[in-house]
Amino acid sequence: MSGRQGIVVGISGASGAAIGVRIVELLAGNPHYAVHLVVSPAAERTLAAEVGRDALARLRALAFRHHLHSDIGTAIASGSFPVAGMIVAPCSIRTLSAIAWGQLDNLLTRAADVQLKERRRLVLLVRESPLHLGHLRTMLQATEIGAIIAPPMPAFYLKPQSLDEVIDQIAARAINLLDLPELRAPAGIWSGPGSEGA
Ligand SMILES: Cc1cc2nc3c(=O)[nH]c(=O)nc-3n(C[C@H](O)[C@H](O)[C@H](O)COP(=O)(O)O)c2cc1C
Repeated sequence: MSGRQGIVVGISGASGAAIGVRIVELLAGNPHYAVHLVVSPAAERTLAAEVGRDALARLRALAFRHHLHSDIGTAIASGSFPVAGMIVAPCSIRTLSAIAWGQLDNLLTRAADVQLKERRRLVLLVRESPLHLGHLRTMLQATEIGAIIAPPMPAFYLKPQSLDEVIDQIAARAINLLDLPELRAPAGIWSGPGSEGA
């Protein structure tokens, strides 16, 4: 234990692995919170394909602790372990469905369910397009049991100049959705004209 409360970051196998990486980078070294990382086997593939062969090793080094996807007996699988909230970024449809319908056969989905049962924030950056009715119904189900669905969408109103800026904005927005006062992003990251509270 570091004495810091945990934040769980789950990375599943949807496109957009760089967003999960950026969230871990933004949280790493935070004096108030310790990052607990869980990466699905599919995400290991997307990380390698989209970010680079060394991405997983870099991520694991950044996190306070990384947990095996299969390790359903580790600390963050328990509601008594002190965690402030969890972000799944990106969140695949498969992981969304498992969380929505309580199929908790791996650590990522189990840890997500723990956030919901303990009434903590669970932010899901669901990434798929287009969406069929089953996807939409599953998002409704996840919302009804307490998750926040926050698809990774560019803030076009901020006129991002690069993909890195888009990723920064999405990552910072996801962290803000945890609603933890110590993690408020510096003013201006996404507060464009007319976007107050957006
Ligand atoms: C390169 C690549 C991109 C993918 N993109 C998506 C995606 O955007 N959304 C999605 O739901 N699944 C996507 N998939 C499929 C998931 O990886 C697959 O459904 C996997 O079983 C998800 O497992 P997980 O939820 O345990 O990570 C992608 C797979 C690959 C290899």
